[in-house]
Amino acid sequence: MRLVDLVTPALVVDAAAFEHNLTTMAAALPGARLRPHIKAHKCTSLAQRQAAVGHESFTCATIRECEGLAAAGLGADVLLANEILDARRVGALVDAGHRITVTVDSPATIEAAVAGGVREVVIDVNVGLPRCGCSVEDAPRLADLARSRNLSVRGVQGYEGHVVGIESAETRSEKCRLAMELLVAAHEAVGGELMTGGGTGTYLINTWSDEIQAGSYALMDTAYGRLGLPFRQALYVLATVVSTSTPDSGGWSVANAGLKAFGMDHGLPAIDGSNIWFCSDEHLTFDPPRRVGDHVLVAPAHVDPTVAYHERMYVADLASGEVLETWPVDLRGW
Ligand SMILES: Cc1ncc(COP(=O)(O)O)c(C=O)c1O
Repeated sequence: MRLVDLVTPALVVDAAAFEHNLTTMAAALPGARLRPHIKAHKCTSLAQRQAAVGHESFTCATIRECEGLAAAGLGADVLLANEILDARRVGALVDAGHRITVTVDSPATIEAAVAGGVREVVIDVNVGLPRCGCSVEDAPRLADLARSRNLSVRGVQGYEGHVVGIESAETRSEKCRLAMELLVAAHEAVGGELMTGGGTGTYLINTWSDEIQAGSYALMDTAYGRLGLPFRQALYVLATVVSTSTPDSGGWSVANAGLKAFGMDHGLPAIDGSNIWFCSDEHLTFDPPRRVGDHVLVAPAHVDPTVAYHERMYVADLASGEVLETWPVDLRGW
């Protein structure tokens, strides 16, 4: 199969850029120093490649991701880095012999873990991102409660999501330090072997966390592309030019991929050498104009939601146009 044979819009992975990203990260954070976040790609075939370069523990955002990893034989050490109030499906995975640890940040999430049959938890601490996580002061109280309920407390999580995308390296470093000072204080009070957090934007500067939960690095997006990291854009949406304006009416083209093919919360997608005008449901308008029938590779601004819109990704040699592998995005859904 060749790229020109694909039904568009289609997710395409640049095989060479992907390999570069995987080996670059494995060299920087070998083995258990990286706990790759699955939500960035939702794909067990891709997770197998991460395991093959040494990362055998994973981070998940949904129970479905945990279940899929376990079914693929990748359930040796999975962290569900999210709060859940019905943990029965996780308990079933634990009973089946998979190691699934769940983050908790309240008495309610601790009771849900107990009721669902979870055995290991991590105390989720708010290090500045107004999302999940307890205060540093509450962390030891929650750890005591969890231990009194016979849960094993493996340590603390603090995800500096408000920091990972900051373009200035200096500001990113400074804000990362402030966030991690909170996590270190919580860890001293809670104990346990794990201090987990971090993302693609802080994978080298977060030297406090024992393990980094980066996910985007493998496929990348244009938002992270602005940070000057050593990872290459490996994910594109292949689209076809379906209409083009006549020279006297302005000079633009329209490709058949729009809001339903790209996560747009980090901005417009990009085409090398083109200006994107706007995106509508199923269309992308850009200049300079191209011929009807031309294919364009469009780089998304945010990898996670983009992947989740698609059923499969085609891994391709972009130089020859040959499709090498097809990977189902099999961990979509909840
Ligand atoms: C809990 C958690 N850890 C880590 C990450 C880092 O992911 P990325 O490498 O894509 O920045 C995220 C992303 O949102 C996250 O939610």
